[in-house]
Amino acid sequence: MSIAPVVVEVGLGDRTYDILIGSGLLARAGAEIARRLPGTRAAVVTDANVAAAHLAALQASLETGGIQAAVITLPPGEKTKSFARLEEVVDGVLAAKLERGDIVIAFGGGVIGDLAGFAAGIVRRGMNFVQIPTSLLAQVDSSVGGKTGINSPRGKNLVGVFHQPKLVLADTGVLDTLPIREFRAGYAELAKYGLIDRPEFFAWLEKNWVQVFAGGPERAQAIAEACRAKADVVARDEFETGDRALLNLGHTFGHALEAATQYDGSRLVHGEGVAIGMALAYRFSSRLNLASPDDAARVESHLRAVGLPWRIADIPGELPDAEALLAFIAQDKKVSRGALTFILTRGIGQAFIAKDVPASEVLSFLTENHPDQQKMRPR
Ligand SMILES: NC(=O)c1ccc[n+]([C@@H]2O[C@H](COP(=O)([O-])OP(=O)(O)OC[C@H]3O[C@@H](n4cnc5c(N)ncnc54)[C@H](O)[C@@H]3O)[C@@H](O)[C@H]2O)c1
Repeated sequence: MSIAPVVVEVGLGDRTYDILIGSGLLARAGAEIARRLPGTRAAVVTDANVAAAHLAALQASLETGGIQAAVITLPPGEKTKSFARLEEVVDGVLAAKLERGDIVIAFGGGVIGDLAGFAAGIVRRGMNFVQIPTSLLAQVDSSVGGKTGINSPRGKNLVGVFHQPKLVLADTGVLDTLPIREFRAGYAELAKYGLIDRPEFFAWLEKNWVQVFAGGPERAQAIAEACRAKADVVARDEFETGDRALLNLGHTFGHALEAATQYDGSRLVHGEGVAIGMALAYRFSSRLNLASPDDAARVESHLRAVGLPWRIADIPGELPDAEALLAFIAQDKKVSRGALTFILTRGIGQAFIAKDVPASEVLSFLTENHPDQQKMRPR
């Protein structure tokens, strides 16, 4: 069933673009793209899982819109955000003889969006780019805002460019084929907006999360709210010189945990790292007497209710010790004279950028919250 989509605008002057959100939108993709970028051809970049479930529908839709499209299908997973795969996409786009005004379409989760967006940003010094995000994480976060890139063996997202799409088309119906674990992981990024500065949205999620998971109108409503929140921040601070950094709530701890598990998705996927990271950011804020322990407990209890991991101990397998986790954090963030930048909070929806967090405090906190330590504690 297709009903009128919700439209959220990302206001960036003459690069302003729409995010369309609704169920059944894939069938309209060809027409919506052709209306905005008439007379163009395209390369669709996707992964094997998304292709198996939805590529035929997208191809039919593009054909209806009169858009000829080459398809580049890659293996799924974080390891695809690599130089080797970037080269493959660049070569595929050039082999299809696409011009600068033609389009790279990212059709997949955040991995495909980041990689295809980067390719679009550098082939012929910048081609048109359209995002058709298919994971919850990509629909509420990564497809909006123009951050694109790949990982380096030295760390995550270290190579890339800002390259805004011309259109984001989020068909909430395609999420029905997303594995539940990936849906939950995306939910962590959704809840993040409530925890940053929208306390009413967090309270709404506490009441309505079951319907969001079930796929009723609440799902599209929640995704639209998240896109509005992201669009606001991006319009204010496109290049992250200021408060766009708030979107990194939970990511400092989360990235360290991802690195500590060698980006092994069977142990921890990105959104799960963010969930644990947000719970830790709230607990750490309470330890520093910035936020009440009740707020930290509220965050933990919601993450637990939806089935997300919320403690370091929830990660299966052995982990490096607290000092090694701190080293991963220090690698991810700039350390200036023993101080680290963190997103901390004064309560639900009151996140702020703290530039002077002593590394020693972080180490004590990680030691207390490390599973090795917790095993030793009397019950
Ligand atoms: N650019 C940004 O602003 C930004 C923001 C947040 C995260 N990210 C990046 O996003 C990435 C994580 O994105 P993700 O969680 O979407 O991961 P992902 O792209 O790996 O997708 C998760 C899994 O779901 C599968 N999948 C996706 N859509 C599906 C569908 N509709 N049906 C069935 N299977 C489907 C994929 O094949 C994959 O196996 C990370 O690399 C992260 O760094 C970028």
